[in-house]
Amino acid sequence: MNSLLRNGVILELILFTVLEFCWGQNSGIESVNLNAERENQIWKAVNSNKTINIPATVPGGIYTDLEKSGLLSTPIYYRFNDLETRWVAKENWTFSRSFNVTSDLLSKSRIGLVCHGLDTVSEIFVNDVSVGTSDNMFVRYIFSIKDFLKLGNNTIDIKFQSPVEYAQKAWEKQSSDYPVLPRCVPANYNGECHANHIRKMQASFAWDWGPAYPSSGIYKDIYIEGFNGALVRDSLLFITSNVSRPSYTRATTWNVTAQVYLEVADPYEPGTIRLEVSTKNGSVVFEQDVILTENQVVLNISVNVTGDQVNLWWPNGYGKQPLYTVQVLYTSNNYGETSLKSMEAGFRFVELVQEDIDFTDVEKGLTFYFRVNGWPIYAKGSNTIPIHVLPERVTQEMTEWLMESAKEANMNMLRIWGGGIYESDNLYSLADKYGIMIWQDFMFACSMYPANTEFLESVKKEVDTQVKRLHYHPSIVLWATNNENEAALRGNWYGTFLNYSRFAADYIKLYIDTIKTEVNKLDPSRECLPSSPSNGLETEDEGWIAKNPYSNLYGDVHYYNYLADGWKWSIYPRTRFASEYGFQSWPYQHTLYSVIDKDQDAYWNSTMMNHRQHHPLGQAEMRLQMQLHLPFPRDHKDTSTFETMLYLAQVTQSMAVKAETEFYRRLKGLLYSSGEGLNMGALYWQLNDIWPGASWASIESNGRWKMLHYYARNFFAPVILSPFINQKGEVEVYTISDSKDRIQALLRVRLFQLDSLTPLKDYEILIDVDPVASAQVLLIPILFFEECENSVSICLLYFTMFNVPDNFLFLTYPKERAVIQNPNIRIEEITSVETATNGSTFAVKLSTEAIAPFVFLNNQRNDITGWFSDNGFVMVNPIQTVYFQSKNYLPIDEFKEGLEIVSLHDVIDL
Ligand SMILES: *[C@@H]1O[C@H](CO)[C@@H](O)[C@H](O)[C@H]1NC(C)=O
Ligand SMILES: *[C@@H]1O[C@H](CO)[C@@H](O)[C@H](O)[C@H]1NC(C)=O
Ligand SMILES: *[C@@H]1O[C@H](CO)[C@@H](O)[C@H](O)[C@H]1NC(C)=O
Ligand SMILES: *[C@@H]1O[C@H](CO)[C@@H](O)[C@H](O)[C@H]1NC(C)=O
Ligand SMILES: *[C@@H]1O[C@H](CO)[C@@H](O)[C@H](O)[C@H]1NC(C)=O
Ligand SMILES: *[C@@H]1O[C@H](CO)[C@@H](O)[C@H](O)[C@H]1NC(C)=O
Ligand SMILES: *[C@@H]1O[C@H](CO)[C@@H](O)[C@H](O)[C@H]1NC(C)=O
Ligand SMILES: *[C@@H]1O[C@H](CO)[C@@H](O)[C@H](O)[C@H]1NC(C)=O
Repeated sequence: MNSLLRNGVILELILFTVLEFCWGQNSGIESVNLNAERENQIWKAVNSNKTINIPATVPGGIYTDLEKSGLLSTPIYYRFNDLETRWVAKENWTFSRSFNVTSDLLSKSRIGLVCHGLDTVSEIFVNDVSVGTSDNMFVRYIFSIKDFLKLGNNTIDIKFQSPVEYAQKAWEKQSSDYPVLPRCVPANYNGECHANHIRKMQASFAWDWGPAYPSSGIYKDIYIEGFNGALVRDSLLFITSNVSRPSYTRATTWNVTAQVYLEVADPYEPGTIRLEVSTKNGSVVFEQDVILTENQVVLNISVNVTGDQVNLWWPNGYGKQPLYTVQVLYTSNNYGETSLKSMEAGFRFVELVQEDIDFTDVEKGLTFYFRVNGWPIYAKGSNTIPIHVLPERVTQEMTEWLMESAKEANMNMLRIWGGGIYESDNLYSLADKYGIMIWQDFMFACSMYPANTEFLESVKKEVDTQVKRLHYHPSIVLWATNNENEAALRGNWYGTFLNYSRFAADYIKLYIDTIKTEVNKLDPSRECLPSSPSNGLETEDEGWIAKNPYSNLYGDVHYYNYLADGWKWSIYPRTRFASEYGFQSWPYQHTLYSVIDKDQDAYWNSTMMNHRQHHPLGQAEMRLQMQLHLPFPRDHKDTSTFETMLYLAQVTQSMAVKAETEFYRRLKGLLYSSGEGLNMGALYWQLNDIWPGASWASIESNGRWKMLHYYARNFFAPVILSPFINQKGEVEVYTISDSKDRIQALLRVRLFQLDSLTPLKDYEILIDVDPVASAQVLLIPILFFEECENSVSICLLYFTMFNVPDNFLFLTYPKERAVIQNPNIRIEEITSVETATNGSTFAVKLSTEAIAPFVFLNNQRNDITGWFSDNGFVMVNPIQTVYFQSKNYLPIDEFKEGLEIVSLHDVIDL
């Protein structure tokens, strides 16, 4: 049993089960919380030449402090403010406060200053003595400060260096050896250069969907803690099974092992370590007396939990997400101190399966999918970026809404993309609760990175901090060391070709020898992918930089193509797993009106719109997609067509992502002779917006669902109908099911001409939907819609089936103005279904006189958070009722007042 202890002596072993047990919180450990609101005038922020001296909020950031002091134009994302406030990032800012030290604290033998997040490069002074430095926003720093404290009044100053200036200097220093590329982000970004030289949110220097706000500040908790015995600093949590491949069908005994990282002030002081796991019927406890003989001790303590004491954690759509509290408690015997770490754990077993497609022919590649509790999971979801460019602006409610929206759209996986931040504890806890699996990137994206010793040391600490912080979350199923850097290097995105071997060596040093090695050491329970996109095991076989990281036969793929017809499935790659793909659009006009000047800026090519379009050629690409598919305004640059253009952009985006996602889901059941096929994941780019601007997002920065998010809810439904026109011109209808049940149901197919609500054809067929499969259920020959050939109107196939979202297929794109009849959509009635403090539901009864494509309902008010039961739909019935569910209490009049409805006909400027 000595293996339980790395640096200690076991005195006595006690193992027992209790039904109830009350835990104390930390006690005996002195702690001084240094956080404070600016209103209390405790923290001050001062610029380099001391001309600005303002109260500050901690945790917080300098932009918010300045804005609250009236020193920035408000609101922060208004018009060109991102440029006008850039001076902030070129200043050095010092954050200072004083604090009181009691004799109780001073009497402790070990006193640390704990900084959970310093953004970014700083030197920390206590009573004017330097106690340490920081250079990485993602590292938790703990400085030993006992020697510098005094009784009574003390001061702390954290001197931040301008992140822009620091990055520039680091680049210059590095460049004297060789330049670590790129030289800068594209000019369209309106950004700052060399984010890759500072360990800070990379997107805070601007991205193709977001502004540069390179902030400074103490953005997470900061406090002082003193103790005499020992405390639990971190705990990893390993939940393993007595069977090698636990599955939902097999009886299991779970071994719950906490790997506890203790910090010891007084070696040889006797103490007790205790592990308690709450279960369905009481808790399982293990307690052990120990003597910790060194300053840092790692202890493994464990209990067995039998399979019948807990229920399995499942991804959303596959089962429930029961969580069980796991607590680690250290009690020091001599000093009466206790230190507690509490975690919400889930019992699940995750595998990333990469097996031969055909073991007789290795050229056909490897599978790539997640298996949870023995069940293959089709990953459905999206990619997240930071919820706000300033971390202090992210509220609990914003995170909650985002995760709820993901769950509501039938998602089961989100990739936390590598150019942002390791997300808040709150976000991961919500992912645990909702069954949203997390693909966690390390924060390296779209760039080469330095690989000097100093940089690597800092990265190592970053990995250590984040893996230990996040380890227990059952939602996290995968680590990946970077975003697109393998592809960037292989594809010579930044002109690295001439110095390839140097950059390749750096690549391996950073991602493989440092990050992956460190992750594998700390967390053998999860896979750590080299990059995304990558070829998984094949990338490894090819020496970590694959010849073609975009291979369809291995790993994941990112795919973007804005120049081909995005509504056509055949342009999309037959990948195993699409971890990024998408199309741009703009937010709803009223979201934009909150940050632009309606009189000056509200037209498609205004200086303002171009300023907010960071993606080079983005406006032109969106225009092209609109022109390919929809009636396009005669003058798209006029103020009168502004709202039309925004609407059309949302329609083209929604339809393209729908076509692409349905293609990937169909591809689950297809295996081509080339070895391509068997797709098991579709994560579109991107879930959320950082500000109101052009982007690939399906949820706007104020929480409003774009049309795409409504489409996502349909195309990610557990069972869907998916029609498409095949290469011969016939229509194939697939059913795709993630359900474990076989379904038999009537599929109704109606053929409409856009000018009439009376179908040309209307028939029903009984079909079998195979469980967890994608298969063709119907082939509609060209003969069926022959009469559409010679018609001036165009035809639409409309599919309905009980309990499955409706689907539709335009046989010709609805592009000609003349074919779109005026449907005279009217709101017949709005009634209140339910009004409660935690949300109201309204029924909106609509009528139409003709087929109405892309009916889009919105509320002008930006402060109404909620969703419609469907949106952006094609209305084929004379009467249709949609529901709106608000997140908060909402009187019916307020809902009615701002309600707007538009359909394709409304945008035609005849
Ligand atoms: C202090 O710094 C600010 C911002 O860089 C600058 O605008 C101002 O002119 C400086 N003031 C003095 C007195 O140097
Ligand atoms: C900020 O501090 C750095 C390092 O101390 C110094 O080199 C630089 O001149 C300062 N920048 C400003 C704007 O005062
Ligand atoms: C500091 O702590 C001491 C001891 O608890 C107390 O007497 C004193 O009032 C405190 N001072 C301030 C400024 O809070
Ligand atoms: C603590 O010291 C600071 C810096 O010397 C001073 O500004 C502050 O007024 C002092 N606070 C108290 C409570 O004495
Ligand atoms: C694992 O544990 C279960 C439940 O206690 C037990 O039924 C099973 O026999 C064990 N399997 C092995 C391989 O030990
Ligand atoms: C759990 O597994 C670890 C590692 O194999 C082992 O050392 C420990 O004894 C196990 N715990 C229990 C309670 O069986
Ligand atoms: C925990 O379970 C394992 C596997 O079922 C078993 O071998 C071991 O003895 C158990 N340990 C304890 C402490 O009960
Ligand atoms: C937008 O396009 C119009 C018409 O071509 C042109 O007159 C105007 O200068 C353009 N505006 C901007 C800001 O590019």
